[in-house]
Amino acid sequence: MEKRLFQTALLLALVAAAAVGAYGMGMGVGNRRHGMGGRDMMMAPPPSAGENPLPASEAVVARGKTVFDANCAICHGAQGRGDGPGAAALNPPPPSLLGAAAAWSDGQIAAQIQVGRGAMPAFRGALDSTAIWSVVHYLRRLQRP
Ligand code: HEC
Repeated sequence: MEKRLFQTALLLALVAAAAVGAYGMGMGVGNRRHGMGGRDMMMAPPPSAGENPLPASEAVVARGKTVFDANCAICHGAQGRGDGPGAAALNPPPPSLLGAAAAWSDGQIAAQIQVGRGAMPAFRGALDSTAIWSVVHYLRRLQRP
Protein backbone atom coordinates (compact mmCIF):
# COMPACT_ATOMS: atom_id res chain seq x y z
CA MET A 1 0.00 0.00 0.00
CA GLU A 2 2.73 2.41 1.00
CA LYS A 3 4.78 1.32 -1.99
CA ARG A 4 1.81 1.97 -4.25
CA LEU A 5 1.41 5.47 -2.84
CA PHE A 6 5.09 6.08 -3.37
CA GLN A 7 4.86 4.92 -6.97
CA THR A 8 1.89 7.20 -7.55
CA ALA A 9 3.82 10.14 -6.09
CA LEU A 10 6.78 9.24 -8.29
CA LEU A 11 4.54 9.09 -11.34
CA LEU A 12 3.09 12.52 -10.53
CA ALA A 13 6.61 13.91 -10.13
CA LEU A 14 7.55 12.49 -13.53
CA VAL A 15 4.45 13.92 -15.18
CA ALA A 16 5.27 17.31 -13.61
CA ALA A 17 8.85 17.03 -14.86
CA ALA A 18 7.58 16.17 -18.35
CA ALA A 19 5.24 19.17 -18.26
CA VAL A 20 8.12 21.46 -17.30
CA GLY A 21 10.13 19.95 -20.15
CA ALA A 22 7.27 20.59 -22.58
CA TYR A 23 7.03 24.16 -21.35
CA GLY A 24 10.76 24.53 -21.97
CA MET A 25 10.25 23.32 -25.54
CA GLY A 26 7.45 25.84 -26.03
CA MET A 27 9.84 28.55 -24.92
CA GLY A 28 12.29 27.38 -27.56
CA VAL A 29 14.63 25.84 -24.99
CA GLY A 30 16.16 22.45 -25.58
CA ASN A 31 13.89 21.11 -28.32
CA ARG A 32 16.70 19.19 -29.89
CA ARG A 33 15.57 15.69 -30.70
CA HIS A 34 11.89 15.52 -29.77
CA GLY A 35 9.22 16.84 -32.07
CA MET A 36 6.14 18.58 -30.76
CA GLY A 37 3.83 15.60 -31.34
CA GLY A 38 2.03 14.13 -28.32
CA ARG A 39 3.76 10.78 -28.54
CA ASP A 40 7.20 12.36 -28.65
CA MET A 41 6.40 14.36 -25.54
CA MET A 42 5.52 11.19 -23.70
CA MET A 43 8.80 9.70 -24.74
CA ALA A 44 10.86 12.44 -23.10
CA PRO A 45 13.46 10.89 -20.81
CA PRO A 46 13.05 11.03 -17.04
CA PRO A 47 15.33 13.26 -14.93
CA SER A 48 18.85 11.84 -14.78
CA ALA A 49 19.84 9.48 -11.97
CA GLY A 50 23.37 10.94 -12.16
CA GLU A 51 26.70 9.91 -13.65
CA ASN A 52 27.49 6.26 -14.37
CA PRO A 53 29.81 5.30 -11.50
CA LEU A 54 31.14 2.21 -13.31
CA PRO A 55 33.88 2.00 -15.96
CA ALA A 56 32.86 0.56 -19.35
CA SER A 57 35.22 -2.37 -18.79
CA GLU A 58 34.69 -5.72 -20.45
CA ALA A 59 33.71 -7.24 -17.09
CA VAL A 60 31.05 -4.58 -16.52
CA VAL A 61 29.71 -4.88 -20.08
CA ALA A 62 29.57 -8.68 -19.70
CA ARG A 63 27.64 -8.30 -16.47
CA GLY A 64 25.30 -5.85 -18.20
CA LYS A 65 24.64 -8.39 -20.94
CA THR A 66 23.67 -11.00 -18.35
CA VAL A 67 21.28 -8.53 -16.71
CA PHE A 68 19.86 -7.45 -20.08
CA ASP A 69 19.31 -10.99 -21.35
CA ALA A 70 17.52 -11.95 -18.13
CA ASN A 71 15.41 -8.80 -17.61
CA CYS A 72 15.03 -6.78 -20.79
CA ALA A 73 15.39 -8.99 -23.88
CA ILE A 74 11.94 -10.54 -23.48
CA CYS A 75 10.43 -7.19 -24.47
CA HIS A 76 13.20 -5.16 -26.10
CA GLY A 77 14.77 -8.08 -27.99
CA ALA A 78 18.21 -9.67 -27.64
CA GLN A 79 19.80 -6.83 -29.64
CA GLY A 80 17.57 -4.12 -28.11
CA ARG A 81 15.60 -3.55 -31.33
CA GLY A 82 12.18 -3.70 -29.66
CA ASP A 83 11.36 -7.13 -31.08
CA GLY A 84 11.45 -9.47 -28.07
CA PRO A 85 9.02 -12.39 -27.82
CA GLY A 86 6.77 -10.40 -25.47
CA ALA A 87 6.70 -7.28 -27.65
CA ALA A 88 3.69 -8.14 -29.80
CA ALA A 89 1.38 -8.24 -26.78
CA LEU A 90 2.23 -4.71 -25.62
CA ASN A 91 0.56 -1.44 -26.57
CA PRO A 92 2.42 0.83 -26.85
CA PRO A 93 5.12 -1.65 -27.87
CA PRO A 94 8.61 -1.60 -26.40
CA PRO A 95 10.71 0.85 -28.42
CA SER A 96 14.02 -0.02 -30.00
CA LEU A 97 16.71 0.98 -27.52
CA LEU A 98 18.90 1.92 -30.48
CA GLY A 99 16.56 4.84 -31.25
CA ALA A 100 15.76 7.82 -29.00
CA ALA A 101 17.52 6.27 -26.01
CA ALA A 102 20.84 6.39 -27.88
CA ALA A 103 20.77 10.17 -27.36
CA TRP A 104 19.84 9.92 -23.68
CA SER A 105 22.48 10.25 -20.97
CA ASP A 106 23.49 7.21 -18.92
CA GLY A 107 21.65 8.79 -15.99
CA GLN A 108 18.41 9.19 -17.93
CA ILE A 109 18.47 5.54 -19.03
CA ALA A 110 19.25 4.38 -15.49
CA ALA A 111 16.34 6.45 -14.19
CA GLN A 112 14.01 4.93 -16.80
CA ILE A 113 15.04 1.44 -15.68
CA GLN A 114 14.46 2.36 -12.04
CA VAL A 115 10.99 3.84 -12.47
CA GLY A 116 9.67 1.87 -15.48
CA ARG A 117 7.06 3.21 -17.87
CA GLY A 118 3.79 1.89 -19.26
CA ALA A 119 4.08 -1.88 -19.55
CA MET A 120 7.70 -1.72 -18.43
CA PRO A 121 8.03 -2.55 -14.74
CA ALA A 122 10.05 -0.44 -12.31
CA PHE A 123 13.29 -2.33 -11.66
CA ARG A 124 14.29 -0.32 -8.59
CA GLY A 125 13.49 -3.16 -6.21
CA ALA A 126 14.55 -6.01 -8.52
CA LEU A 127 17.97 -4.79 -9.69
CA ASP A 128 20.67 -3.20 -7.53
CA SER A 129 22.45 -0.10 -8.75
CA THR A 130 25.48 -2.04 -10.02
CA ALA A 131 23.20 -4.15 -12.21
CA ILE A 132 21.40 -1.06 -13.53
CA TRP A 133 24.56 0.91 -14.38
CA SER A 134 26.11 -2.23 -15.94
CA VAL A 135 23.13 -2.71 -18.22
CA VAL A 136 23.46 0.93 -19.32
CA HIS A 137 27.05 0.24 -20.41
CA TYR A 138 25.86 -2.88 -22.26
CA LEU A 139 23.18 -0.81 -24.01
CA ARG A 140 25.88 1.58 -25.23
CA ARG A 141 27.63 -1.43 -26.74
CA LEU A 142 24.43 -2.41 -28.57
CA GLN A 143 23.89 1.19 -29.72
CA ARG A 144 27.47 1.72 -30.89
CA PRO A 145 28.93 -1.68 -31.72
C1 HEC B 1 7.51 -6.10 -19.95
C2 HEC B 1 8.27 -5.56 -21.07
C3 HEC B 1 9.50 -4.73 -20.77
C4 HEC B 1 10.61 -5.10 -20.04
C5 HEC B 1 10.85 -6.42 -19.31
C6 HEC B 1 11.51 -3.98 -20.12
N1 HEC B 1 10.97 -2.97 -20.85
FE1 HEC B 1 11.82 -1.18 -21.28
N2 HEC B 1 10.10 -0.55 -22.14
C7 HEC B 1 8.99 -1.33 -22.36
C8 HEC B 1 7.95 -0.52 -22.95
C9 HEC B 1 6.56 -1.01 -23.33
C10 HEC B 1 8.47 0.79 -23.07
C11 HEC B 1 7.73 2.03 -23.59
C12 HEC B 1 6.70 2.40 -22.53
C13 HEC B 1 5.79 3.51 -22.94
O1 HEC B 1 6.25 4.47 -23.55
O2 HEC B 1 4.60 3.42 -22.60
C14 HEC B 1 9.84 0.72 -22.56
C15 HEC B 1 10.72 1.79 -22.54
C16 HEC B 1 12.07 1.70 -22.24
C17 HEC B 1 13.05 2.75 -22.41
C18 HEC B 1 12.76 4.13 -22.99
C19 HEC B 1 13.20 4.09 -24.46
C20 HEC B 1 12.67 5.22 -25.31
O3 HEC B 1 13.13 5.32 -26.47
O4 HEC B 1 11.79 5.96 -24.88
C21 HEC B 1 14.25 2.26 -22.00
C22 HEC B 1 15.59 2.99 -21.98
C23 HEC B 1 14.02 0.90 -21.57
N3 HEC B 1 12.69 0.59 -21.73
C24 HEC B 1 15.01 0.05 -21.11
C25 HEC B 1 14.76 -1.20 -20.55
C26 HEC B 1 15.77 -1.99 -19.89
C27 HEC B 1 17.24 -1.66 -19.82
C28 HEC B 1 15.13 -3.10 -19.41
C29 HEC B 1 15.71 -4.19 -18.56
C30 HEC B 1 16.34 -3.80 -17.33
C31 HEC B 1 13.74 -3.00 -19.80
N4 HEC B 1 13.55 -1.82 -20.47
C32 HEC B 1 12.77 -3.96 -19.54
C33 HEC B 1 8.85 -2.66 -22.03
C34 HEC B 1 9.73 -3.39 -21.26
